[in-house]
This record gives sequence, structure tokens and C-alpha cells, in this order.
Amino acid sequence: MTAPDYTEKIPNNVSLHDDRRLQRALESWQPDFLNWWESMGPALPTQDVYLRTAVNVGREGWAHFGHVPMKDYRWGIFLAERDAGRQVGFGEHKGEPVWQKVPGEYRADLQRLIVIQGDTEPASVEQQRNLGATAPSLYDLRNLFQVNVEEGRHLWAMVYLLHAYFGREGREEAADLLHRNSGSEDSPRILGAFNEETPDWLSFYMFTYFTDRDGKYQLGTLKESAFDPLSRTCEFMLKEEAHHMMVGTTGVDRVVARTAEVMAGSDTEDVAALGVIPLPVIQKYLNFHYSVSLDLFGGETSTNVANYYTAGLKGRWMEDRRKDDHRLTDDSILVDSLDDDGTGEKAIGQTEVSALTGLNTDLRREYIADCQSGVNRWNKILADAGLAYRLKLPHVAFNRKVGAFASIETSPDGEKLSADEWERRKGRWLPTDVDKTHIRSLMQPVYERGKIAAWIAPPRNGINGKPFDYDYVHLA
Ligand SMILES: [Fe+2]
Ligand SMILES: [Fe+2]
Repeated sequence: MTAPDYTEKIPNNVSLHDDRRLQRALESWQPDFLNWWESMGPALPTQDVYLRTAVNVGREGWAHFGHVPMKDYRWGIFLAERDAGRQVGFGEHKGEPVWQKVPGEYRADLQRLIVIQGDTEPASVEQQRNLGATAPSLYDLRNLFQVNVEEGRHLWAMVYLLHAYFGREGREEAADLLHRNSGSEDSPRILGAFNEETPDWLSFYMFTYFTDRDGKYQLGTLKESAFDPLSRTCEFMLKEEAHHMMVGTTGVDRVVARTAEVMAGSDTEDVAALGVIPLPVIQKYLNFHYSVSLDLFGGETSTNVANYYTAGLKGRWMEDRRKDDHRLTDDSILVDSLDDDGTGEKAIGQTEVSALTGLNTDLRREYIADCQSGVNRWNKILADAGLAYRLKLPHVAFNRKVGAFASIETSPDGEKLSADEWERRKGRWLPTDVDKTHIRSLMQPVYERGKIAAWIAPPRNGINGKPFDYDYVHLA
């Protein structure tokens, strides 16, 4: 394992200088990336931002903190250290040495998995492009930019794999990752949730809580891959993701805490008039972001995903902690389904399928359990403030566009609704134009050190031991 070389144009720990062709190919992609960053990245002009930059992959001291102009951020290529004895952990190749090259028979599938993951990284930067204009504090502004530069680095991680292992096709896919754009009519991003807007900071916290968390679970399955370079790159990306999760979790914490504080100190239910976000509106944003994120896990059953598993391309969340044979050829799982209730009506039920075809369901359930932990902590904030209101994850069938429930509408409790009823009632469960307009009206920027917008509580801790009132961002 070589130490990353920061004197090089592209910092890396993959000995890029030993492969001149690859180095030249990536160096010719670099200006396209920088052009994309300038035109599609953060729109707010800044001098510099207090950012962490990955400088090593070891357990200790992998990141360096300092004020840097964002366009000079050192996006690099970092893979976790190689474990020379690593073996395939699941599927039909279980127990064989992992692959350092792409096996011909799996080339197309691996490339597809990498492109889909890669597509989400720049997408979120595009979605968050205008948020700087309305940041509630310099601390939050800095966190937004940190997430943005790291998603940019994650794009680099996937582009490295495409360039290094997938030849001309890989290079073309790498170019396309900069040509598709979030929300574009002609060439949208691949997955639905990555074409939605992130127009305000409540959406941003919900996105980093729910949608970035999908990313964490996808990376967790790719970290298990028999294709070792993919595994090692995802392992290191997960390290960076932890901060993104923190931004989402504590962001929603602080919105809930501020509303609870104002509610506890007043006798009116109409807290919108007091400049904070009403709990039912927070619930609507939660409903939206959670349900579109559930769609990211795909259908309840998938033969593609079964094949990926059997081939060793993509494992399960925490594969090595599972107490089974890691081949799953004889196992089954109950998945959500829409069944005939005997009268010709469709009813929400469960169907038993082979464990391999049900792997999307397995991953989605791991994710749902994790999402519940956030809801529990937000409810504890409400309980501690003496409030009776509780937030809730909506039913798995609510507002779904992908999978078994795409063809029906339900309430957040899972009660099946006719199309008319859904149209009439959905405004109670999903953000309406009135809600969105109110949220946007609250989004006034606060760029003064140590100050914060009135709709959100300050964080408990600053970044890297710095206080909340630190000069995290110097605006241009
Ligand atoms: Fe990412
Ligand atoms: Fe992320």
C-alpha cells in the first residue's frame, strides 16, 4: 500500500504513476469533472471552506481539516488497504480468492452496478446546488459543502474503476456520468429519487437521512463484492458516508428540537406563525423522502439481484455476520406482495419466494430498521419536551412507484384507497404547495458567525472540535 501522493495532479493510493495510460485517461477526464463542478456544483460563491480532505485510508488520521477554496479541493482516488488473503464470502465462488481483475462473464453486470452507483454521486450535488443561498448557519453551509465535495470524490472512485478495469466502454460510461443531469428532460439521472428537487434545508436533512442512507446500504452490499477493487473503494467511501448520515440525523434532530422548544413555550398549536416548522409538516417531508427512498431498493423480487449474489458481485448487508450458508440456494423469504383477496380485489399480503430472488427485500428491511432508529430518537426529543406528538415511518406500501405496491395507493397506515380518495387526502400526508411555500419562506440565509436561523436549533458540537461560532466558510 503506497501513501497517497499529493504532489500528483490526481492524489491517489493506487500507484497511478505506474500506469501512464490510465493516468493520462483520468487526467483527461479531470478537466471535464472540474467544468461540471463549476457549472453544476455549489452555486454560492465562496473564498474557502473548512473541509476535510482524505489523505490516508488507515484507521487513524485519514482526514486532514483546513480552509480550502472548493475548486482546489483535492479529489483523489483512495481504496481501503488490500487484504491479501481475502476470499469471496458468498455465492457459488464462496471460499475462492477474490478477483483483482474483472472476469469476462461478469463484465457487463459489474460495469452496470458501478455506473448505477456512480450516477447517484454527482446527482445529489446537482440536486443541492442552490442550497447555499439559504443556509441556516455557516456550520450548516460547511456541512453541505463537505457532503458535496465528498460526493464528487465518490464519483471519482467509480470513474477510476471504470477507467482502470472496463476499457473503452468504461471511459464512455465515465464521460456519460457528467452528461446526465438531475431532473434533465433529455438525459436524467438513472434513479427516480435522484431527479427530485432538494429545494430547501428540511428536504436536505431528509435527503441525507433517508436517501443518502440508501447509498450507505448499497455501498455495504458492494463492499462484499468478489471484485476486490470495488470492495475496497466502497469500504473507504462508507467511512466518508458516516458524516453524511450525521448531517441528516442531527439536522432533523435540530428541526424537531426547535419546533418542540417553541411549542413547549407557547399555548398555540399554530407554530407556523411563530416561525418554526409544524410537526405535521415535518411528518409529510419524512413520508415523502422515506417512500421515494424505499423505491431505490427496486422490486421485492429480482432475478438479476439473485444472479449478482450467486456470482459474487453484490452481497448482503453485513454478509459475514449472517448465520447461514452464504449461498442461499435452499432458503426462502416472505416478501411483500399484492394478492387477490378472493373477491377480485387486490390486498396487501406476503408471498414466499426463494431467498435469492428476495434479496432486494432483505436489504430494504435492513434499511427500514435503520430508518426506525432515527424516528425513535426524534420521538425521544418530543417526549423529553413533554409533547404527545410522535413521528412515524409510513407503511411500506405508501406512495410507492416501484415494486408490488406501485399500482395502488394507501394511507400512511397502509389502508388501501381508491384513486379519488387518494387525490382527496394526499395533501394531508405529502407536502402540499402551501407547505412548500411556507418552508421556502423560512429559508433566509444566516451567514453571520455564531448565528442561526430561527426554525432550527444550533448543533450540540461543531466540526473537528471547533465551536459552533467558528468561521467555517468565507464567502466571496
Ligand atoms: Fe456518496
Ligand atoms: Fe453520501
